[in-house]
Amino acid sequence: LHARLQGRFGRAYRYLGRTTSTQDALRAWAEAGAPEGAVVLAEQQTRGRGRRGRSWVSPPGAGLYFSVLLRPRLPLTELLRLSLAAGIALAETAEVGGLKWPNDLLAPDGRKLAGVLVEAELRGEEVRFLLLGIGLNVHAAPLPPEATYLEAYRPGLRRVDLLAKLLARLEYWSERLTDAAAICTAWSRYSYTLGRPVRIDTPAGLVEGVAEALASSGALQVRLADGTLRTISAGDVALLSP
Ligand code: BTN
Repeated sequence: LHARLQGRFGRAYRYLGRTTSTQDALRAWAEAGAPEGAVVLAEQQTRGRGRRGRSWVSPPGAGLYFSVLLRPRLPLTELLRLSLAAGIALAETAEVGGLKWPNDLLAPDGRKLAGVLVEAELRGEEVRFLLLGIGLNVHAAPLPPEATYLEAYRPGLRRVDLLAKLLARLEYWSERLTDAAAICTAWSRYSYTLGRPVRIDTPAGLVEGVAEALASSGALQVRLADGTLRTISAGDVALLSP
């Protein structure tokens, strides 16, 4: 891996055969002073976590399961753009599929290739550090029916090459988090969401409409049946057929 790395992300690197979750392993290392860009990668996770309390199935050797440490000077309200940025980096690396808001990478058949989990370690209102966790299914393995793997679309892929590219793209975008226009443009290019009818499970209830645009914060703007525009900054999107 190190021969292929060009930037700071991944210079500090720990490789684990098996762990509960790379998020937990990296949190412990961060508390002990790991530098920004430190990466923990595992061959297998026994308790991989997804967003909204879901689990992330992590069969041994089949995917990239890793977490990156970020120490950005960003208010919490800007975090959504980081989430989009991680999705862009994934889409650029996979060269296949598109993004379901905010950052699920879907294959052309609509099944999930990769997901992102951002966990913030706070002190009051201040972000002490962020754990950016990425799971990318690469090789064939027993996966849930709603998931698939990248090698089905790009035969002969190697995980090390994907990891080097992904870390470089994550670093690139994490240096541009304040450039809302660049992030929204790049994200839209890989979108499977904009222009589609969606149903979103938000903390304030279900919202149904057509995903119309991204706000500069990274929030999703949805046109409801009554013509009003709703701005959604958190929730679980289902893409409905047009
Ligand atoms: C999601 O789509 O719900 C997010 C999935 C994130 C999975 C990755 S795998 C590496 C890191 N460690 C975890 O426990 N979760 C993330």
